[in-house]
Amino acid sequence: MRSFQRLDAKTPEQLRSMRAAGLVVAEALEQVQAAAAAGVTPVELDRLAEATIRAAGAEPSFLGYQGYPASICVSVGDVVVHGIPGSTPLREGDIVSVDCGAVLDGWHGDAAITFPIGEVDDAAAHLIEATRASLWAGIVAMARGQRVGDIGVAVEAAVEAAGGNLGVLRDYVGHGIGRAMHTDPDVPNFATRTAGPKLRPGATLAIEPMVVEGKFDTVVDPDDWTVRTADGGRAAHWEHTVARTETGICVLTAKDAGAAGLAPHNLIPTPL
Ligand code: MF3
Ligand code: CO
Repeated sequence: MRSFQRLDAKTPEQLRSMRAAGLVVAEALEQVQAAAAAGVTPVELDRLAEATIRAAGAEPSFLGYQGYPASICVSVGDVVVHGIPGSTPLREGDIVSVDCGAVLDGWHGDAAITFPIGEVDDAAAHLIEATRASLWAGIVAMARGQRVGDIGVAVEAAVEAAGGNLGVLRDYVGHGIGRAMHTDPDVPNFATRTAGPKLRPGATLAIEPMVVEGKFDTVVDPDDWTVRTADGGRAAHWEHTVARTETGICVLTAKDAGAAGLAPHNLIPTPL
């Protein structure tokens, strides 16, 4: 990680463009989650996501990114991130993470969700919920914090507070986002030695905790994409693209702008 990273400020008009891109991602993820069930294949979900994105006049930003061959990542079980959609049907008891990105009028949105297929064991449900809660803790830290580093501190603390033997990934982090999917700065999900750039109005970040059962070490499959836990523990991944403004925070990839997720923290999303 470089020591000095920029965090640029978007104008209110640019934030509204990013909101439009974010809503496309939200719709695609909603469609994918609704369609996901035992017997459905990740390839089918990928086609649905791509069609939803294109129907909105946007383009799937993952497709072709560094040679990535699909419009979404579908990461099942011990796959943490970057699972390439395949033709193995989902099964009852699986936990599935879906990561999706869209670009609209040159502006990017990026988000991920994790959900169970049918009934899952308590440990899986806890992992999913602890990770989801840690994302919202990170979003709240972006609203109330001083520096990007405050986000990672909050995410890590939320995972700790959830209890259980959970690990927060070190090898992959969140990122700035805007006219490109990945920009400065890195957004770690853990406390680091550097505080990172100041959180200013106009900042847009993709906050994306990746949390696993057991140890946080990962390995990459021979396909050069699929990231798995080294110890076979299962994984969850939640992500939102978030904007901080003069007046507060807006979760660009949430249809309700974050109202439901922020409510337990006594925050209301700000209009753009
Ligand atoms: N959405 C991922 C991220 O947040 C990127 C997916 S990699 C891709 O960084 F190749 F699939 F696009
Ligand atoms: Co991302």
